[in-house]
Amino acid sequence: MKTLFTNIKGLYGIYDAAPAFKRGNQMLELPSIQGAYLLIDDGVISDFGTMSNCPDRADATLDCTGKYVLPSWADSHTHIVFAGSREGEYIQRIQGVSYEEIAAAGGGILNSANQLGSTDEEQLYEAAARRLEEVMAMGTGAIEIKSGYGLTFDSELKMLRVIRRLKENYALPIKSTFLGAHAIPTAYKDDRAGYISEVVDRMLPIVADQGLADYIDVFCDEGFFTVDETAVIMDAGAKYGLKAKIHANELANSGGVQIGVAHDAVSVDHLEQIEEAEIAALMNSSTIPTVLPSVSFFLNIRYAPARQMIDSGLGLAIASDYNPGSSPSGNVPFLISLACNKMKLHPHEAINAATINGAHAMEVGHLTGSITRGMLGNVIVTKALPSLDFLPYAFGSNHIDAAYVKGQRV
Ligand code: NIG
Ligand code: FE
Repeated sequence: MKTLFTNIKGLYGIYDAAPAFKRGNQMLELPSIQGAYLLIDDGVISDFGTMSNCPDRADATLDCTGKYVLPSWADSHTHIVFAGSREGEYIQRIQGVSYEEIAAAGGGILNSANQLGSTDEEQLYEAAARRLEEVMAMGTGAIEIKSGYGLTFDSELKMLRVIRRLKENYALPIKSTFLGAHAIPTAYKDDRAGYISEVVDRMLPIVADQGLADYIDVFCDEGFFTVDETAVIMDAGAKYGLKAKIHANELANSGGVQIGVAHDAVSVDHLEQIEEAEIAALMNSSTIPTVLPSVSFFLNIRYAPARQMIDSGLGLAIASDYNPGSSPSGNVPFLISLACNKMKLHPHEAINAATINGAHAMEVGHLTGSITRGMLGNVIVTKALPSLDFLPYAFGSNHIDAAYVKGQRV
């Protein structure tokens, strides 16, 4: 099946070979053709160029006059498997109670764990599948999904089986992350070591044996897991071949960045509370810093210093963190608006952070995140827009006309 997109006003993110992770001023580079065609053949990008070279035959032709075509978003950090929402806590926070106070009182992640424990696997799958379809319609064409609202052997495995089923049933690249160390569950509140042993000695071997995870994650932050505990858990994951993606420096300057870098984590995510030392640690490493602007928006906390990071020469990814507590949204176009407005990124930098760099932050940069021949036909077609910059500028409106995964319209 050949699908031909013609008369594209601007085809963005084009390469002759899969692009590397972008750093520093490379983040401004977003190569394009104005007046372009794109051909997707059997789910794969097979050709593109200027309209003067457009092929004259295809099984389906879509006229994209006035519209832009981009690589799909690669959302490298989400928690879309959860049992219920937490708008009660949202109202508490509006009224002045902090995220940390809610968590310390047994709400937050523990609230979600309670809800998930009493939700059966089928219901959990259905709810997660609806969220996945929702974000795919907004242009997400690759996604990472974490466990971490189970916090018991049975419930963590239940979450990971739901992610496995999503992988089986949906065509986009999905990566699965084991986040047993998301919080100390109530049953272990006086026995941290006991819970860490449960994660490392009981859950992890089964997770690995059943091939249920691609990565291991720890919430390394004040009130959650310490740097030393994080190191133990990452080392344990490494014995099973699981690389780390770490929640670091959201609530405090926790040391999470340095310990993630020291363990060759694929990414360290959040980074709202980083300073010069963390930027320096990231400079000499292959660990990808990932910022989550909708968490700052929703929790009313500081934004990660993304401008300073890029100006220092770092590259970064942007992800949604879609979860019921700190970012109940997986709307990547809104993240791009926040990144421009609040973090002072140029739209091209924000788009690279949400496409090619996001793809690298979950090791799928060879499959998606750019318009490259041989890569998946995962693309976004915008509505007719006056310019590409209009996408983040006119925030809150839906500018996406259609999203494609492996050449199929979502
Ligand atoms: O990435 N920070 C830790 N975990 C999630 C949110 C957890 C929750 O509040 O449910 C996050 O923000
Ligand atoms: Fe998260």
